[in-house]
Amino acid sequence: MKTILVPGGAGYIGSHTVLDLIKKGFNPIIVDDFSNSSRKVISILEELSGKEITFYELDVKNKEGLRRIFNENKIDAVINFAGFKAVGESVEKPLMYYENNLFGMITLLEVMKEFDVKNIVFSSSATVYGIPEKMPLVEGDPMGATNPYGRTKLMIENILVDLAASDDTWNIIALRYFNPLGAHESGKIGEDPNGIPNNLAPYITQVAVGKLEKLHIFGNDYDTPDGTCIRDFVHVNDLAAGHSAAINYLFSGNIGFEAINLGSEKGYSVLEILKNFEKAVGKTIPYVIDGRRAGDIAVSYADASKAKKLLNWETKYTIEDMCRDSWNWQKKNPNGFED
Ligand code: WQD
Repeated sequence: MKTILVPGGAGYIGSHTVLDLIKKGFNPIIVDDFSNSSRKVISILEELSGKEITFYELDVKNKEGLRRIFNENKIDAVINFAGFKAVGESVEKPLMYYENNLFGMITLLEVMKEFDVKNIVFSSSATVYGIPEKMPLVEGDPMGATNPYGRTKLMIENILVDLAASDDTWNIIALRYFNPLGAHESGKIGEDPNGIPNNLAPYITQVAVGKLEKLHIFGNDYDTPDGTCIRDFVHVNDLAAGHSAAINYLFSGNIGFEAINLGSEKGYSVLEILKNFEKAVGKTIPYVIDGRRAGDIAVSYADASKAKKLLNWETKYTIEDMCRDSWNWQKKNPNGFED
């Protein structure tokens, strides 16, 4: 049984991926400092998987601590989720983002090299495409970034490209997520943002559950059918399956560096998402139209043909599934994990 080290494995995407790794016959080990996740997730994952899960409470920037983990366990591959991800916060605190996201990844790669572990999947993002010229977005399209969070993703991808070019024994995949949505069908794990949510879906579900007053839609004067922005939403369970598929592909070897989109190839507008959530929740969700949010692009959706070709991956969940599962998590956990 191959062992996969999962820094950030107690987080939203990480926890769902740990469950899928177990389902697919891998042995995941979680590393998390709980700076942006709940320690309760570990016992919930053990309950949901029926397996005991090895975990280490550790900041991935702690090199000695990482060395201890690699000494104590035979690690076959790594999936790195550890990183801060709030766009707005990254604009206010750029140094915190560069220090945490970049130094965390560099420290991890240095320790992997010391222990001759050369298989890694990186949690990247469609944000690395910056301001796109055309749709759908394809992996070879021009890159850019419009905020410090996005720049950390882009810089890390460049670090990984250079690393693979310097040593052809590395097998590296950067998975570019579009817009994660949904939750495990049990409703026991889900997205639990710190403070006021930056992202659309948790904001909507917190309005629906009564924690927030109304949704603020950032602009309805875009060049789209209903004037609101269009995004490519992907169920977090589909994302999780994409990581397990990427790990299997890494073990085939001679990969070098590959960037792969994980998207549904469909676009839904903010208003369409709101309507889907109203169907899931069974009531009207109040909203107001505000001005545009700086940095937003009008339309973003993926070409996912490379994921289909290399990973035999495509999305299986519908937008109705995503809204149903996100609401199921929120209504069962109005205050998230309540840490
Ligand atoms: C989607 C749309 C907003 C909130 C970002 C990151 C990406 C990924 C997902 C981080 C936009 C509108 C939002 C609100 C709104 N990673 N919106 N009111 O910006 O597409 O992507 O999050 O987790 O890397 O860039 O996602 O959910 O913030 O916004 O009207 O209260 O919803 O303007 O058009 P985004 P989002």
